[in-house]
Amino acid sequence: KTIKAFAPATVANVSCGFDVFGFAVEQPGDEVTLTLKKEPGVVVKKIEGDGGRLPLAPEKNTASVAVLAFLEAIDRKDEGVEIYLKKNLPLGSGMGSSAASAAAALVGINHLLGEPLQRKELLPFAMEAERVACGSAHADNVAPSLLGGFVLIRGYDPLDVVGIPTPEDLYCTLVHPHLELKTEDSRQVLRTSIPLKDAITQWGNIAGLVAGLMKPDFGLIGRSLKDVIAEPVRALLIPGFDEIKEKAVETGALGCGISGSGPTIFALSTERELASRTGKVIQQQFQKLKLESEVYVSKI
Ligand code: HSE
Repeated sequence: KTIKAFAPATVANVSCGFDVFGFAVEQPGDEVTLTLKKEPGVVVKKIEGDGGRLPLAPEKNTASVAVLAFLEAIDRKDEGVEIYLKKNLPLGSGMGSSAASAAAALVGINHLLGEPLQRKELLPFAMEAERVACGSAHADNVAPSLLGGFVLIRGYDPLDVVGIPTPEDLYCTLVHPHLELKTEDSRQVLRTSIPLKDAITQWGNIAGLVAGLMKPDFGLIGRSLKDVIAEPVRALLIPGFDEIKEKAVETGALGCGISGSGPTIFALSTERELASRTGKVIQQQFQKLKLESEVYVSKI
């Protein structure tokens, strides 16, 4: 038995929700093909699109790590599974590349084995894959990649994951400059304690963003897309970031920030045309710095 599963790229943090907020786009995403075999064991047979850089070892690859954790949890460690991974998402891009491979693999294996678990129940195994990929089991990429839409991780212990309704007209621009940032590294640059003043600003914004999405109130969404905790530090790793943000908002985007741990930039807009225009403007900014980039536009 064989199945092919797809999981999309995701924007983690969404500016103010470091480690607790993320959303999925339509495209691009990773594709994982899984085949049940007679011989027990999980094998990563082939990876395409990674330039030979991802590990094939089952205990290191995010797709197989997730499958192994899943099989262990449902007590089917003797299953034989062959994995073929088609990476469409660039590595170290901040688009949730490791998460998408894990999410697609989990949806695939769960289906092949007759859906023993519900979608939400797959989350801990995808988080385990994140831990292996970057040293931190954050859920703000894997949760939206698995569940779709905007997802709030209200709490990690116990895990409490809440889907947030999205306004009809909301579009995302992603601009991926040809630069690589390892999540592990861009987590290490962060401060581990923050002044109360910054905490107040940040929780005002995350509450404002959730309220803005639910009402919906686009002005409120725009005012809330601010990050005083991770962005000021991480922006230094992305050439031209401040100007990019300024130009995106000038063009008419509701707001703009770093996608996950970067270097991809995301912006939200109320029209597809505006989202495309914002993409071009950001791309031009990167061009000025001699950086090539790709633009993706999605309805959310
Ligand atoms: N919340 C995580 C971070 C997402 O910002 O490090 C990584 O994609």
